Amino acid sequence: MKQNLKLVLPSKKYLKEWLTFQRETLKKLPLNDLDRIGYEKHIISSQKPLYFKWLRDDRLGINLEKGMVQQTIWWGMVGGKIVGRISFRHKLTPTLRKHGGNIGYAVRPTQQGKGYATEMLRLVLKKVAKLGYKKVLLTCDDSNIPSWKTIEKNGGKIVKKEKVDGELSRFYSIKLR
Ligand SMILES: CC(C)(COP(=O)(O)OP(=O)(O)OC[C@H]1O[C@@H](n2cnc3c(N)ncnc32)[C@H](O)[C@@H]1OP(=O)(O)O)[C@@H](O)C(=O)NCCC(=O)NCCS
Repeated sequence: MKQNLKLVLPSKKYLKEWLTFQRETLKKLPLNDLDRIGYEKHIISSQKPLYFKWLRDDRLGINLEKGMVQQTIWWGMVGGKIVGRISFRHKLTPTLRKHGGNIGYAVRPTQQGKGYATEMLRLVLKKVAKLGYKKVLLTCDDSNIPSWKTIEKNGGKIVKKEKVDGELSRFYSIKLR
């Protein structure tokens, strides 16, 4: 149940679960080549000893690779199982303004349609508001109905629709209180 969902910071304790989550996503989601390569790379890097240090550095905004911004990732957990992941990018770059925005998320293919994305976004917006942010930008493909419904259910107002790399995208703003 989505009421049982908790956001936790990545921890070694759940590494096996995290790998299962990623492998399942890679196998079952219809990903484009770029996303598939991203997942494959992530699966490899998450088994490296420095993985949790990298995530911590990203969270603190230190030792960032060129072009990367401070980013906090949470895992959405229900009863010891990772059902989704959500990340908050603390700053916007020109690239993120075009594609990605401040917040990105995914729900495990077998766990979709249960309200988990909507709940993860609701919880992250509360955290981000506490950090002092007044609004966030989210982008998604016009064809990604579950994603834009998730955004709209959390107060997202559409700012514009625009083609990005040949794909029609929606740009949303969510005001935080
Ligand atoms: C987008 C995504 C995170 C949604 O996760 P989810 O947990 O299934 O979403 P929710 O259960 O919170 O549902 C949100 C809304 O989408 C609707 N929805 C869910 N799956 C749907 C589907 N396959 N078709 C149409 N609507 C769908 C839900 O019914 C709900 O709307 P409603 O309350 O009006 O009925 C998930 O589909 C996913 O991981 N997709 C791949 C990664 C991705 O696209 N991330 C977003 C990048 S912008």
